Amino acid sequence: MTVKFFVLFVFIILPLCVFVNTTPISNPGHLKIRLKRVHTSKIDPGLLSLLKRDPQGKEYLNNVNDIRYTGSIIIGGQNLTIMIDSGSSDLWVPSVFCSTPACTSGTRYDPAKSTTYQTLPAPNNFTLNFGDGAQVDGFKATETVTIGGLSVTQQTFGVLTTFTSNQYRGGGIMGINFRQSTRFNAPGVIQTMKTQKVINKALVGFHFSAPKVNANDVSYITFGDVPNEYANSISYNKVVENRSWIISMSDVQVDGNSLGIKSNVLIDTGSTLNYGLSSQVNTLHQKISGSNFSNDLWWIPCNTKSVVSVVFNGVPYEINPLQLITIKNNSTGLCRSGIQIQPNTNASFWTLGDVFLSNVFTAFDFDNLRIGFATSPNGTGAPGTSPGSGNDNPNNVKKSDANKQG
Ligand SMILES: *[C@@H]1O[C@H](CO)[C@@H](O)[C@H](O)[C@H]1NC(C)=O
Ligand SMILES: *[C@@H]1O[C@H](CO)[C@@H](O)[C@H](O)[C@H]1NC(C)=O
Ligand SMILES: *[C@@H]1O[C@H](CO)[C@@H](O)[C@H](O)[C@H]1NC(C)=O
Ligand SMILES: *[C@@H]1O[C@H](CO)[C@@H](O)[C@H](O)[C@H]1NC(C)=O
Ligand SMILES: *[C@@H]1O[C@H](CO)[C@@H](O)[C@H](O)[C@H]1NC(C)=O
Ligand SMILES: *[C@@H]1O[C@H](CO)[C@@H](O)[C@H](O)[C@H]1NC(C)=O
Ligand SMILES: *[C@@H]1O[C@H](CO)[C@@H](O)[C@H](O)[C@H]1NC(C)=O
Ligand SMILES: *[C@@H]1O[C@H](CO)[C@@H](O)[C@H](O)[C@H]1NC(C)=O
Repeated sequence: MTVKFFVLFVFIILPLCVFVNTTPISNPGHLKIRLKRVHTSKIDPGLLSLLKRDPQGKEYLNNVNDIRYTGSIIIGGQNLTIMIDSGSSDLWVPSVFCSTPACTSGTRYDPAKSTTYQTLPAPNNFTLNFGDGAQVDGFKATETVTIGGLSVTQQTFGVLTTFTSNQYRGGGIMGINFRQSTRFNAPGVIQTMKTQKVINKALVGFHFSAPKVNANDVSYITFGDVPNEYANSISYNKVVENRSWIISMSDVQVDGNSLGIKSNVLIDTGSTLNYGLSSQVNTLHQKISGSNFSNDLWWIPCNTKSVVSVVFNGVPYEINPLQLITIKNNSTGLCRSGIQIQPNTNASFWTLGDVFLSNVFTAFDFDNLRIGFATSPNGTGAPGTSPGSGNDNPNNVKKSDANKQG
């Protein structure tokens, strides 16, 4: 495997990415933010041991057509849209200096409207290339940044001057990959939160909703710890190297039958689909009744009941068949599979994106260099149906949370 140092991975929605760099970049998505702080002075001391484990911040995300998940971030007092991307390490947003359509279709950051904006000495310009041919140019600066109700100061971020993309519009990216892979030569937001003691643990947990499976499912991200309801059921996997969120997959199953597939896997919140090595992806689809390979894509029946599971450390995680099917081809009646061949023929690892992540709760644990997955809060039910944890203020619960199912 090898993710080159200083290379971003971006897999955007369309399957036929052309890699500008030898390595992947990650995808953009967006979020919605809400603050949940624990005011310890008001808490019954008997609850403190429980709450100590809870995240310090939480933010709800928007599911954009199961293609990406986006949220809000406040930079210099300005409310901007971002996608959280585990395949890259830096934060950047559209600005008023950028007039390409990818910038102008959303809110743009304006340094003139901020009192906390600070320039960085030249040369502070950057260019980033993404897997679908998208490119961003801009300059680095520092700002006060708030997400999930947690604020950090003097966070290095990118102010875009151009943004070309056919797919992502109106938002930026907050990278949550390791410091070792920064293109900005600066700590990312999570690292800064830990350094500035805004969170106790450098840990990001999230769930991406699967409304086709459960209409009440809610997308969210937490900062600082794993929510209580997942603390007992989560299983961790060490990263292969401490510069990217790549772990080792021990097998893939179809309907419980082992395919004997082993590979390293990038867990990429910025990728919509899953991608694998060609011979392994072919083997997998041959086990799905009615599948068809055409135009370099795998297609499967839209009503397939086949359950693909990925296995980490001996623990299988099922992909719901409703999440495995994506766009329908009206002329063949087949649906595009959520698992496709890596567009980069040189790639030596799989990429698991939203098609997989929408089936689990996931934790990126920077302090212990590991990724955790949990399938059921408190050992029952499905992930995402109970986004709450001890620090939720019931008066703030959104309507969509009201019908939680366990
Ligand atoms: C794959 O690797 C070969 C040899 O290193 C290189 O010439 C080629 O450009 C690479 N292809 C891609 C898509 O990165
Ligand atoms: C930011 O904007 C989003 C989307 O309009 C909104 O839901 C959210 O409440 C705003 N956040 C703040 C802190 O104003
Ligand atoms: C920064 O700008 C200078 C001058 O235009 C250019 O030579 C250099 O390649 C740029 N650096 C990056 C990383 O884009
Ligand atoms: C799971 O357990 C946590 C902590 O004990 C509790 O706050 C939460 O309500 C439980 N959730 C469900 C769905 O039972
Ligand atoms: C990550 O790896 C680098 C060398 O590749 C090492 O210097 C650093 O201490 C490692 N960090 C952790 C947290 O293990
Ligand atoms: C796949 O679809 C093509 C075109 O629709 C068809 O010609 C071919 O027979 C199909 N292959 C299989 C294995 O079903
Ligand atoms: C649908 O399938 C046909 C036959 O394989 C193909 O020619 C066509 O490009 C597909 N359409 C889309 C939108 O993928
Ligand atoms: C397929 O048909 C449906 C219903 O008519 C339509 O909504 C959808 O956009 C079509 N898909 C494509 C890829 O053309």
